[in-house]
Amino acid sequence: MALSYTIKKVIGVKQETTKAKSITLQTENDADFKYHSGQYITLRIKINGESLVRSYSISSCPATEKNITFTVKEIENGRVSSYLNNHIKNGDELEVLPPLGNFKIENSNLNQYKSYFFIAAGSGITPIISMIKTLLIGDSKSNIQLIYGNKTKDEIIFLEELNDLQNRFPNFKVYHLLSKENNILAYSNERISINIIEKISLEKNINIKENSGFYICGPDEMMRNINYHLLEKKVVQSNIYFESFTTNTSTEKKTVVENNSEYPTKIIIVIGGKEHEIAINEGETILDAAMDLDPPFSCMSASCMVCKAKLLSGKVEMDDEGPLDDKEISKGYILTCQSHPIGENIKITYDI
Ligand SMILES: Cc1cc2nc3c(=O)[nH]c(=O)nc-3n(C[C@H](O)[C@H](O)[C@H](O)COP(=O)(O)OP(=O)(O)OC[C@H]3O[C@@H](n4cnc5c(N)ncnc54)[C@H](O)[C@@H]3O)c2cc1C
Ligand code: FES
Repeated sequence: MALSYTIKKVIGVKQETTKAKSITLQTENDADFKYHSGQYITLRIKINGESLVRSYSISSCPATEKNITFTVKEIENGRVSSYLNNHIKNGDELEVLPPLGNFKIENSNLNQYKSYFFIAAGSGITPIISMIKTLLIGDSKSNIQLIYGNKTKDEIIFLEELNDLQNRFPNFKVYHLLSKENNILAYSNERISINIIEKISLEKNINIKENSGFYICGPDEMMRNINYHLLEKKVVQSNIYFESFTTNTSTEKKTVVENNSEYPTKIIIVIGGKEHEIAINEGETILDAAMDLDPPFSCMSASCMVCKAKLLSGKVEMDDEGPLDDKEISKGYILTCQSHPIGENIKITYDI
C-alpha cells in the first residue's frame, strides 16, 4: 500500500542543548516502524491552520531502542522545528510516516570497512550517532572516527553520550571542531575540510583509499566540497555516503523538461488501491499534478524519498534521481517530486 500516516504518542522529550530536543515516539509494537540506523521519519503537523510536512533523522539505535527517537534543532523562524522545540510534551500525538532512507547501516554490515569516517555538522549528527551506536554496540571491529563541527561548545548535541561512547570503546574517537570558540575540547578551531581528514588519517596511519567508508551529513556545500576532495585523493565514490537535510517547500517551478509530450498530458496514478486519471501541465512534476490525491511527500527536493513511486508503464524523466540507487532505478522506482512525463501511456503506483 502507499505510505500512510499513523498517529504515534510522544513518550519522552529530552532537552539536548538550548536549541535542540529529542522526542521519543511509542513505536515498538508497530512492525511498520522497525528501522535501520541512519533512516528518518516524516511528520505531518498542523500549525496555525497550515499542514506542514518535515522529515527528521532517527537518533536512537535499533539494537537497543525499539521506540524511535528523533532530534530536532530549532531554526530561527523555522515553523516546525520551533513548534517541536517549544510546544511538544509527553502524551501529545503526532502524525508520522514509517522510517525511510538509504543512508543507513544495517546489522549485516558492521564490518564492511576497516575504517569509518563519520562527518557531521550541527544537527547532521542525528543519523550519524545512530549509526555509530549500531557499529559499537554491534561489536564492530572497525576503527571509527567522528569529525563533528559546531560553532560553539554549547551547541554540541549528544556531547555527554559521545564522551561516554569514547570512554567505553577504544576503537571510537571523536574530533570536535568549533568554528567560533577556542575550547579545550576542540581538536581544531577550523571548519570541516579535507585537511582535517588528512591530519587524522596520518595520525592514525589510515590509508583512506583502501577500505574506508565516509558517511557525511551537513550543509550541501560542505558535503560537495568533501566529496570533491575525497575523489581527488582517489577514494571511490561508492565508499562515500551522504544525507542532505535541504528541503525545498517553495512553489517555485524547476526547469521545464523538453520532450514531445502534448500538454496537458494525462497519466494514470494508483494510490490506496484506486486508479485515477490526472492531467499534468507543462513544467509540473507528477507530484505537483497529483496533489489532490493526497500523495506522500516531504522535501520536494530529491532528498527524502517520501514521494517514491513505481513506473508501471510509459516513460518519465527525473530532474534529480536523489538517493535512489541504480537497482531501484532499474526496477522502475521514481521520485515523483522530480518526475516529468515523456510521451503517453504513463501509469505509476504509489502502492509499493
Ligand atoms: C531526510 C531529512 C532528514 C532531516 N533530519 C533532521 C534532523 O534530524 N534534525 C533536524 O533538526 N532537521 C532535520 N531535517 C530538516 C527538517 O526536515 C526541517 O527542514 C527543519 O526542521 C526546518 O523546518 P522548519 O519548518 O522549522 O523551517 P521552515 O519554516 O521550513 O523554514 C524557515 C527558514 O529556515 C530555513 N531553513 C529550512 N531548513 C533549514 C535547515 N535545515 N538549516 C538552515 N536553515 C533552514 C528556510 O530556508 C527558511 O528561511 C531533515 C531533513 C531531511 C530532508
Ligand atoms: S518529496 Fe522528498 S524526494 Fe520527493
